[in-house]
Amino acid sequence: MRRVNVAVVGATGAVGEEMIRVLEEVGFPVHKLVPLASAKSAGKEIEFKGQKVIVKELTEDIFEKEDVEIALFSAGGGVSAHYAPYAVEAGAVVIDNTSHFRMDPEVPLVVPEVNPEDIAAWHNKGIIANPNCSTIQMVQALKPLDDAYGVKRVDVATYQATSGAGKSAMEELVMQMKDFFAFKLDESKHEKFPHQIALNVIPQIDKFLDNGYTKEEMKMVNETKKIMHKNIEVSATCVRVPVLRGHSEAVTVWCEKDVDAEGARRALENGKNILVVDDPANQLYPMPVMVVDKDETFVGRIRKDIYKDNVLHMWVVADNLRVGAATNAVRIAQKWLEMESQ
Ligand SMILES: NC(=O)c1ccc[n+]([C@@H]2O[C@H](COP(=O)([O-])OP(=O)(O)OC[C@H]3O[C@@H](n4cnc5c(N)ncnc54)[C@H](OP(=O)(O)O)[C@@H]3O)[C@@H](O)[C@H]2O)c1
Repeated sequence: MRRVNVAVVGATGAVGEEMIRVLEEVGFPVHKLVPLASAKSAGKEIEFKGQKVIVKELTEDIFEKEDVEIALFSAGGGVSAHYAPYAVEAGAVVIDNTSHFRMDPEVPLVVPEVNPEDIAAWHNKGIIANPNCSTIQMVQALKPLDDAYGVKRVDVATYQATSGAGKSAMEELVMQMKDFFAFKLDESKHEKFPHQIALNVIPQIDKFLDNGYTKEEMKMVNETKKIMHKNIEVSATCVRVPVLRGHSEAVTVWCEKDVDAEGARRALENGKNILVVDDPANQLYPMPVMVVDKDETFVGRIRKDIYKDNVLHMWVVADNLRVGAATNAVRIAQKWLEMESQ
């Protein structure tokens, strides 16, 4: 496979740092790594394959100057909106982690385990979008069930870690816990979340829309349909929990055919990058602490509904920074390179 110049935009962030680790771990054929961030991080050193690499400031002409071929963006929607076109203009393919391009009908929205063939549409705009972290792990688990039973509706409640809102959001939880142990939690600040997150759960992620759902919840609704090319009904309740890393989801799946737990377990075991951990007798099921730094989506608590023969319940957990962001982006880059090298 040919070696390529790869830029990581947002290289000092929670997702960007993870992207650089994943690129190294999977042995991605990087010729030159170009870590980019804001002016305040320019000059910082990061490590890649045992070498020090200097972070550069993101500018409009940096992609051309550095001859970038793949640009992995994760520095916020506004940054992608402004700078992605410069990367494309310079001849790079953009793989964007933000929500900015996801619902653009000309931009493919890809989870490689589900719709890798959509990558071919990158030619439209030079951009491939990475879905929302909660959507990625859910559709990975839905895909084998859809193949076996035909999924028609999904009801999901999420339990999302603070890292989903970036590095400073993780720090906010840690600070509040420190304040709790110093008996001054009531003086603790909250900036990243609308309420105290330590020792609390917040049933709001992102802004509320006119229909009573949040933007995060509607991302799960709309992105699932686009990725699975199917008008699956999705109803989501997205909740922030005081966990640093690893999103969990309680998922109820309504199928066209009748389901049985054993058949569903087998289908999931054969799913791509899925690990079934489902041994109630030994109190084994997926949990956030189990998935940190892992590239698989963990599924457990698989059981048939008590009342309906076509309804299945499961518990889906994955590392939001890897499966929900960095690993998915790098897997897209791998497939893209494979396709373009043919
Ligand atoms: N966290 C997740 O689980 C997750 C999952 C999927 C998608 N995403 C998306 O990925 C993006 C980044 O998330 P994150 O969690 O990594 O956030 P983060 O930890 O806050 O990091 C933000 C990164 O963006 C850079 N940045 C911010 N403004 C910039 C600018 N004007 N020019 C250049 N670089 C700039 C920052 O650089 P400095 O350090 O120099 O400020 C930093 O490297 C967001 O759009 C988020 O929605 C996150």
